[in-house]
Amino acid sequence: PAPGWSIEADVVVVGSGVAGLTTALRCAAAGLATVVVTKARLDDGSTRWAQGGIAAALGEGDTPEQHLDDTLVAGAGLCDETAVRTLVTEGPGAVRRLIGTGARFDTNDSGAIALTREGGHHRRRIAHAGGDATGAEISRALVGAVRAAALRTIENALVLDLLTDAEGRTAGVTLHVMGEGQHDGVGAVHAPAVVLATGGMGQVFSSTTNPPVSTGDGVALALRAGAEVSDLEFVQFHPTVLFLGADREGQQPLVSEAVRGEGAHLVDAQGTRFMLGQHELAELAPRDVVAKAITRQMHLHGTEHMYLDARHFGAAMWERRFPTILAACRAHGIDPVTEPVPVAPAAHYASGGVRTDLRGRTTVPGLYACGETACTGVHGANRLASNSLLEGLVFAERIADDIVAAGPRERPVPAPRGAGDPAPVPLLAAESRTEIQRIMTRGAGVIRSAEGLAAAAGQLEELRRTAEAAGEEPGAAKDAVPGVEAWEATNLLLVSRVLVAAARQREETRGCHWREDRPDRDDTEWRRHIIVRTAPGRQ
Ligand code: SIN
Repeated sequence: PAPGWSIEADVVVVGSGVAGLTTALRCAAAGLATVVVTKARLDDGSTRWAQGGIAAALGEGDTPEQHLDDTLVAGAGLCDETAVRTLVTEGPGAVRRLIGTGARFDTNDSGAIALTREGGHHRRRIAHAGGDATGAEISRALVGAVRAAALRTIENALVLDLLTDAEGRTAGVTLHVMGEGQHDGVGAVHAPAVVLATGGMGQVFSSTTNPPVSTGDGVALALRAGAEVSDLEFVQFHPTVLFLGADREGQQPLVSEAVRGEGAHLVDAQGTRFMLGQHELAELAPRDVVAKAITRQMHLHGTEHMYLDARHFGAAMWERRFPTILAACRAHGIDPVTEPVPVAPAAHYASGGVRTDLRGRTTVPGLYACGETACTGVHGANRLASNSLLEGLVFAERIADDIVAAGPRERPVPAPRGAGDPAPVPLLAAESRTEIQRIMTRGAGVIRSAEGLAAAAGQLEELRRTAEAAGEEPGAAKDAVPGVEAWEATNLLLVSRVLVAAARQREETRGCHWREDRPDRDDTEWRRHIIVRTAPGRQ
């Protein structure tokens, strides 16, 4: 349906996690008319669920160079070294500026920022807050700063599509807004710069650490707008998510890697540590290595989970250092002080996303992507733990600086829809979400194969065809405003199809892409990225 209302801005930021709010605050501080739109409430995205922390070379003896080395190793040959160098050298300053915004990190006895370890890091370099509530503290500080700066925000606003002008340059976005007074229903924000910071797509899978809002909206919009998307096959599965039953679907409680960073052991039902001898860092090996080892053990023992044993921490340490995880475990009748915690891998992070340069620019002029939505090249085939909040911060600053440097621009005039435009994307029924998740979990989860991926591709295509056929039926309500859930299911289907296509194409095992039928890394053929771009509107 055509937008019923519109507002004008210099920049519209879509998403309200660390990436979106950092971009918005910096643009607004430079005097740009900035609008933040977010699908739920300002603090509802993934950022507030981050536990372990934010990685930066802040400790004595640590250097950006060492942080770079660890990031490149985790990325399994596919990181863009210049992007990583940018991340690790600008990271410490960006964290200090975040502290300047009001975020309070935990400190040690001498008052310095307390640093812990996580998988793949050879040093203590993870800053944390509230013990294991780092994301919640960052979100609190940034939302507070946004409110203090009286930034214009529109909540409950699902972004639909990019608007472009007659030259194909960004002209704003269309939105579907629910219950926000004068800006309700389908409307538009017109702006020459749009920043996609909508987070990840964990909801593609049945079991994930991501909140329900993580439905790949930014990547789907970018695909529909004809922007390049890269590395979607690299979905990171977090090794240790609290296992509460095989039938549990949706967001599951995370058990941070920082628990292993402080000395917890991964054990089987007999109490045997199985990471010893598998990697020099044992339980602190990069995340893909640990997730695979746990999955192998589960297969070997025919069980649905392994255990994380941190009884030796004692009650006082659990309460001080990991209060969130302790409370989550106890809420489900598990006491980590007296018993090992059942854990299994679950979908956690999209290492790929909308392809950008070092200024966050996508291949569509005026369209930027930041944070988990983006593929800046810093993560390669497997993100290093706690580099994601850092990426959001560092590249948000760069994007804001690029937009500000472009100077005042004329407000764009979106090109009117014409007869030659592609037909609207067929919308899926909201109920298809669960079906997509089951298809993806069965066919494109931790362990993949040509056969399983082909089956998933076929089932996803069937869903697409059904939606298309339903849209073509005489009497189908083409002009009705569909619910947010239908758009979310449609976005999930689109990103799932591209993800599966990339995973089928990459006939090797690398980083978090594990093909049991192609168990080796193939640097001759596959030290390259799979980049997808579709003609605008064609899916
Ligand atoms: C964790 O706390 O284990 C998550 C950290 C991350 O995903 O970077």
